[in-house]
Amino acid sequence: MTAQLACMVSDIAPGSALRVELEGETGPVPVAVARDSDGRFHALSDICSHGQVSLSDGEVEDGTIECWLHGSTFDLRSGAPLALPATRAVPVYPLTIDGERVLVDVDITLNF
Ligand code: FES
Repeated sequence: MTAQLACMVSDIAPGSALRVELEGETGPVPVAVARDSDGRFHALSDICSHGQVSLSDGEVEDGTIECWLHGSTFDLRSGAPLALPATRAVPVYPLTIDGERVLVDVDITLNF
């Protein structure tokens, strides 16, 4: 599988995230495409490593995304948890910008 169209650049304002579902080798993969306050894009699993909730529903702030349920924050670049109760990283996927298109490859993880 190669990079797939996740969304358009204009779909995500700085400091926010969008849930998309892409096709992986073993089935659908929920992805949180997040844009940090500097405007940079990141792609990580949309499933919190502490529970089965959507990270894209949380706050994006200072290069992190916060899980809305228990408040763990995750580094957008590494997927690493920065605050309890989560102790495991979430997968981070390669993301490229092609003009207006945001492309993500869910068959490669950058941190596992
Ligand atoms: S479900 Fe995300 S921190 Fe608990």
